[in-house]
Amino acid sequence: MKRIIVTGSNGQIGVELTPHLRKIYGDKNVLATARRKVPGTVSEGGPFELLEVRDGKTFSELIRSFKADTVIHLAGILSAKGEADPQGSWDINAGGCFTALECTRENGAAFFFPSSIAAFGPSTPADNTPQDTIQRPTTIYGVAKVTGELLCDYYHLKFGLDTRGLRFPGLISYEALPGGGTTDYAVHIYYEAVSKGKYTSYIAPGTQMDMMYMPDALNSVVKLMEADPARLEHRNAYNISAMSFDPGQIAASIKKVIPSFEISYDVDPVRQGIAESWPNSLDCTAAKKEWGFAPVYGLDRMTEDMLKRVKK
Ligand code: SER
Repeated sequence: MKRIIVTGSNGQIGVELTPHLRKIYGDKNVLATARRKVPGTVSEGGPFELLEVRDGKTFSELIRSFKADTVIHLAGILSAKGEADPQGSWDINAGGCFTALECTRENGAAFFFPSSIAAFGPSTPADNTPQDTIQRPTTIYGVAKVTGELLCDYYHLKFGLDTRGLRFPGLISYEALPGGGTTDYAVHIYYEAVSKGKYTSYIAPGTQMDMMYMPDALNSVVKLMEADPARLEHRNAYNISAMSFDPGQIAASIKKVIPSFEISYDVDPVRQGIAESWPNSLDCTAAKKEWGFAPVYGLDRMTEDMLKRVKK
């Protein structure tokens, strides 16, 4: 990667990945794009352009004029929000991905696709979920993620496009709050632990989901995109996860630092239903073997760092 375009730069990952890439590759070599310009490091720390990802003409022109060799396509609507507007979510998530792939092909760049644990469904083996397995998701977000994975395979096979992707678990960060996701509780809990000393979870106790601290996610994107292509057997997306926990376990981890912290429950049936349809824990062997995936943060280490950094 030398000249990189990032879509969805204002989103939870983009807000951190854009500055991270600028630090590694140089500010002027990373073009941030988003539908809206918001003040901050993304729009002010290097080049920025407005882009609606379904506008293929502008998208392709930006890749060409920026002389980009890599497109990091992050723009999308998260799982729970997607259920409130399935057509709109499909349009942005699947339509946007197809447009992004086509523009990338026109300009001969490499492509990064953020898939998700949402690309699995109730018929997927839930424990130690294999890299290659049943993918029949029951959310429109998941349907679009499977579509994106298949399109990445297709563009690689048919056109030789250098497609690479990660199935992100819930991402936890202190810089930006996620919006409209199912795993968001694992971010909100830290903010409310610091500001209120307690948290009411919309996810029920005992519901295990894969998670990862943002620094490990950022490093994983760079590592995968820099990996030797000859070693990559999967061009759709790799299982990655750093930990798996339920609300009770993250609460117990917080209690080690804030002993008075208390969790209670008010379960949201929509997000609980989505969470139950996703795996409990992923098998990340392929990512480790093919490009050296190696997260460093487990639950307690992440908790200590989050509680130090989250602002009241
Ligand atoms: N974190 C996402 C969500 O909850 C999953 O990719 O929607």
